[in-house]
Formats: sequence, structure tokens, C-alpha cells
Amino acid sequence: MCGIVGIVGKSAREIVLNGLSKLEYRGYDSAGIYLNDQKGNEYITKTVGRIQNLKDQMTSDEQGLVGIGHTRWATHGKPTENNAHPQYDETDRFYLVHNGVIENYQEIKSNYLSDVNFVSDTDTEVIVQLISKIARTENVDAFTALKKALAKVKGSYALLLVDNTKPDHIYVAKNKSPLMLGIGAGFNIIASDALSVLDQTKTFADLQDGQVGDITNDSYVIESLAGEPAVVQPYTLKIDPNATSKGTYEFYMLKEICEQPGVLRHLEQFYLDQNGEPQIKAKIIDMLAAADRLYIFAAGTSYHAGLVGKVLFEKFAGVPTEVGFASEAGYHFPMMSKHPLFIFLSQSGETADSRVVLQEAIKRNIPSLTLTNVPNSTLAREATASLSLEAGPEIAVASTKAYTAQIALEAILAKALGEKIGNENARAFDLKTAFALAAEGAEQVISSKEKIEQLAQKFLLPSRNAFYIGRGIDYPLALEAALKLKEVSYIQTEGFAAAELKHGTISLIEKGTPVIALINDPLTADLMRGNIQEVIARGASVITIASKKLAVDDDDIVLPEINYYLTPLVSVVVAQLFAYYASKDKGLDVDKPRNLAKSVTVE
Ligand code: F6R
Repeated sequence: MCGIVGIVGKSAREIVLNGLSKLEYRGYDSAGIYLNDQKGNEYITKTVGRIQNLKDQMTSDEQGLVGIGHTRWATHGKPTENNAHPQYDETDRFYLVHNGVIENYQEIKSNYLSDVNFVSDTDTEVIVQLISKIARTENVDAFTALKKALAKVKGSYALLLVDNTKPDHIYVAKNKSPLMLGIGAGFNIIASDALSVLDQTKTFADLQDGQVGDITNDSYVIESLAGEPAVVQPYTLKIDPNATSKGTYEFYMLKEICEQPGVLRHLEQFYLDQNGEPQIKAKIIDMLAAADRLYIFAAGTSYHAGLVGKVLFEKFAGVPTEVGFASEAGYHFPMMSKHPLFIFLSQSGETADSRVVLQEAIKRNIPSLTLTNVPNSTLAREATASLSLEAGPEIAVASTKAYTAQIALEAILAKALGEKIGNENARAFDLKTAFALAAEGAEQVISSKEKIEQLAQKFLLPSRNAFYIGRGIDYPLALEAALKLKEVSYIQTEGFAAAELKHGTISLIEKGTPVIALINDPLTADLMRGNIQEVIARGASVITIASKKLAVDDDDIVLPEINYYLTPLVSVVVAQLFAYYASKDKGLDVDKPRNLAKSVTVE
């Protein structure tokens, strides 16, 4: 979380501000920018809230040939102007932006900086004050001071530093938080992600953990903290910059919901051959086939996609599958089978909680596979193998198309693995037709979005709380549907296994409580109808979403018939649209719900 961008060698102001706007998905509690025109003039502006506030506050003379900026998701210290970055030292020489968490900042403060006057509550100020102190007391240059300071620091960081006595350099460092170097003609740029500066260059190099750099307009020196030179391998990023634009949509979330049929069709073409047979590298399938148990680790929406994955792997490959919160498994490692294989699901590929588990897997020689939307992300690079979700950039903070892509890719892998180990269900699984029908089904739901908006207005908008209930594969779907609704509309929503309500939580149902019931599971459809009656009897306002074959006359939304195991791909679109309209019609910022960030790089 937190986004940083810096540039040296080109008029910096607009590039930094545009980059920050594109990085707002990483947090938007406060923002700041430092500019230096390399002729002795420097400017710093900081503000609470969004980048737009920053733009509004800046005067036209604030320009620079070097600039660094920051958009913050607060960890240490409230979102105030003092706590906004850049943070600077007490001699006003060093300016620093930082993404990450310095775990031992209190210790550094008392051991080395007891005589320093701190003006913020942040862990970041400790680094910049320490660099300054080392530079002064040991009479070393900024780059050396940075390395010496970081040798004392424990934690995660991507950071950019400017020394105003040498304003034609940006010094950088990376540990556990993402940082990319963008290489231009006569300028260099450095940012939390490549998409934020894609309008400036397409040539990038990823910095690795433990690396520091000294960047000027026409050079970059990257080395380890100990000073050993690092090999940098620049590559060309092939992403259409239009893929990140909102087009005619009011919000990215709606654009990304509407892209899902296209994503499913693309995945079908990308991973299946003409006959519908999975085309996954033999090395990956062999690795999966060697496992006696699969362990899926993820967070949030990706965790919910993992719960659906469990059903798919067990049904079509017959391999027992466990699903865990990465944040729990990292420090309470589950008991392992003899030949485990870890699967990491992550839209961003940067989630710190998942990375902790991956590091543990590496230590224990457990093979791993990451499914991610960002192929050169940390989790992709560090796992034994990785596969791309191929969903295209997802900008809205609430994940939509990455969830459907994760489930679709899990279905492909389950079939590929099942076929490899001779599972009958896998052979009979006509994925090509199932994907085509799911894409069509998702399209049908999207074309009925006006009706979904009306239902949201009537039942969800007036309510402070709501429930999603389902059985079978609709239960993990209910969890995801509830997360979506609560995170963007702030309506407190719980997802429940329908029959579990009566074991306690039904006491929360009162007159008018919205309960959205998902009915896709043929085995439990009749029981589900009974569960619905139980909440109606207690005053709930029920909205029913049912597969065509299981639907009755007065169901609110009838979904086209598709393979039961892929029904989440269609039902979730209804839930995403409920969430979208509940948020939009409340006048909220759908794409950037309060307190959240898209890429969660702190534990
Ligand atoms: C919710 C959402 C989050 C993420 C979670 C994991 O809409 O997007 O719950 O799913 O933070 O992120 P990734 O998938 O990037 O690891």
C-alpha cells in the first residue's frame, strides 16, 4: 500500500502527479510531492486526501527537473499533513517517500535519534532522520548514508530519496514492497507499478529485495546493500495504455464487471485448444500431479475464489484441497501432507500476507504455483511456476474480473490435472462449452443491470445490514457477494451457509432485513427454499437469484442454465452489480471505498 513515483531528467510535476493519480488504488489518505528545479529552488506540497487536493493546492511556479511523490494508506500515524510524505530531515536536506512498514522504528529512534525533533508520527521520518544523521556525523554522501541507514532497518520498504545538495539524483531502495525502474531517453523514472508511468516509457527493470540504486537522468547504478553490483535486466512491457482508461464508463468497477464475458472468452482461447483441451505447460501439470494434496493460500476476494477452487480440484481432479487465509498460515503453518503443492491466488501478485507463506514454502522446499494478473509480480517471480489470469489491468479497488478469471483458471487447471491423473469427471468436463455458456450468461446478467439497480434501490439502499445465503457452491459465492457489497456500499453484510442461520444468526433478522438467496445447487435447492421461508417468517425481504432449471415463478433473477460448477462465474456478476449500484446510488466513490487500498503490501 502507498504509491510512490519519482522522475529525474524531465519536467517532473505533471508526470509525478499523473503517476500518483494512477497509483491512488494503493491508498488515498493523504498525498505529497517534492520538486527541485536543480537551480536552487525546491517545493514541497502535502495534503490530506486525494491527489486532486494536491493539484488544487499547488501554484504554477512549483516545477522541477527532479520530483518524488506519494499517495498514502496510513499505517503509522493518522492521515494528517504532517504525516503525509515526503518526510524530511531536521536540516531540510533530505526528502523521502516510502511504501512499507519499518518494524524497528521505535528502537532506531531511541538508539540513534534521541536528540532529534520529530514532526510526524510516522515510521518513515525515522529513516530520513537517520540518513541525515549518518551523512552528517560520518561525513558520507547520500547513497552511502542510505545504505548504512538501511543496514539498521527491519521491515518492508520501497523508497525514493532526494538530497538537495545533489538534486540530479534520486536514490532508491527496495525490500518486500514493489518498485520498478522505468528507463527513458534522457530521463529515468521509478514507481510502485509500471502502469502508472506507462505513458512515459515501456522499458522497465524490476528491483529486487535488498537492492538500492542511484538514479540520474542518463544512468542507473543498482547494487546490494553491501555494495555489490546487481545485474539489471530491462524488458519491454507490452500493455496497451488504453487498457487502463475508464472509457465511457462512470466508474472502473462497472467497466471491469462488463469486461468479464470478454475475459472468459479470452481465457478459453488462451488456455484451451480447438478441442477444448487445456494447454498448460507439462512442467506445471507434472508438478501438480506429483502432489498428494493442494493447499490454496490467498486473501479477501482471492481467498473466496480459492474456496470455489477447492470444489473444482476435488471434483475434477479428485485431489484433496485445503484453502487457507495466507495471513494465518504464515505464522501458524498448517500440518502438511507428504507431497504438498501450494497454489497462491493473487490479483496483484504483491500481497504481503501471501508472500510470507511463499517464503516459508521456499524454505521448506514445497513447490508452488502462483495464479496472478500481474505476470512479473513478486509472487509470480518467486514461486516455482506462475500462470497469468489474463484479465487485463484491474483498477477499481474492489476486485471483480480477477475473481472470475481465478475461478476460470482453476477450472482449467482442475481439468488438466484430472486428465493427467485419469479422473473420469475431468474427461467428461466440456470446458469449452461451459465457458461459452458462462460468458453468455454473464452477458445476459449485465444486460439486465437496470433491474438489478432497481432491486438495489428498493431493498439495499434503505438498509444498514444485509445477508447473502447459499448452499453448496453458493456458499463461497455468498461470502464473496457479501464482501463486495460491504466494501463498496458500507452496508454491513454477511455471507452465510443458508442452513447455518438457524443455528444462531437468524436472531439478527428483523422486519425488512434484506436477504439475498442464491439457488444454483440442484442437490439442496428444495432445502434452500425452506431456509428462505424461515427468514421470510421472521420479516426478511428476500431477493432470490436462481438457475433456470431450479427457478420458480416469482424468483427475482433467473440465471441461464450453465454447468453447476461454473455457476459462480455468472451469479457473482449479479452480486457485483448489486454492490456497484448500492454504492453509486448512495453517492459514494465506487472505485475507491474508504480505508482500503488495492495492493496490500503490509502484513
Ligand atoms: C476485495 C479485494 C481484496 C483482495 C485481497 C487480495 O475486493 O480486492 O479482498 O482480493 O486484498 O489481493 P490480491 O488478490 O491482490 O492478493
